[in-house]
Amino acid sequence: MHAAYSVNAKRLHWLIALLIVAQFLVTLLMPDIKEGMSMEPVITLHFTLGLLVLLLMAVRLVVRLRNPVEAATTPGKPLERVLAVGVHRLFYAILLTSPFLGWIAASAHGLPVALFGIVELPALAADHAEWGHQAGDVHGLVMWTLLGLIALHAGAALFHHLVRRDDTLRRMLPDRSR
Ligand code: HEM
Ligand code: HEM
Repeated sequence: MHAAYSVNAKRLHWLIALLIVAQFLVTLLMPDIKEGMSMEPVITLHFTLGLLVLLLMAVRLVVRLRNPVEAATTPGKPLERVLAVGVHRLFYAILLTSPFLGWIAASAHGLPVALFGIVELPALAADHAEWGHQAGDVHGLVMWTLLGLIALHAGAALFHHLVRRDDTLRRMLPDRSR
């Protein structure tokens, strides 16, 4: 178990965080996905950003498993550690599964899923498939829950930095000593 995050772990953390913030902004601009609708650039962007996050999270999981890092919490606060590690694991679980639910929902609505609108990917559900529409409902619900968890996670990081004045946030920032 390492004490510090590697440069790659930090890069991936902030790149993925940026993509997810952009993704939620795009989601607000996205029209309701309905059967038989035509593709719009904002929908292509939602699919592309989501697929990039999925891809980068898979890379990140490999980086993380090969290089396990201890979570930073104040000694003597076991509950905080459990909560922090639990949220971190939930991030991995959600971001490695829920994009597939969105992909399934896209297919069930007859929408093509193509990375950057060019690299076409296979449909994961039949057009009009009822289970695919349900997957879409779960996708939305899970992703809005994710947004709440991100607020909790970022709030905790800022609390550590500004109130506790410890090194938690600095652990995830570029190492200036090198
Ligand atoms: C980080 C990844 C992603 C996030 C944070 C995200 C977020 C969301 C959210 C919050 C909604 C609900 C919008 C609403 O309430 O109106 C939604 C809907 C949707 N997303 Fe995603 N999404 C992601 C990835 C994907 C991917 C990879 C695809 C497809 C390839 C996708 C396809 C869809 C579709 C089709 C809907 C509409 C679902 C329905 O109403 O049936 N999403 N997404
Ligand atoms: C926006 C989406 C975000 C996601 C999905 C996310 C996800 C994660 C994950 C999974 C970890 C565990 C370490 C790892 O496996 O790489 C982590 C650690 C961390 N994140 Fe985030 N993060 C996000 C945004 C933020 C923001 C906005 C901040 C700061 C305001 C932040 C601050 C931190 C810090 C300080 C750690 C290290 C905590 C520790 O060592 O215990 N994160 N994040």
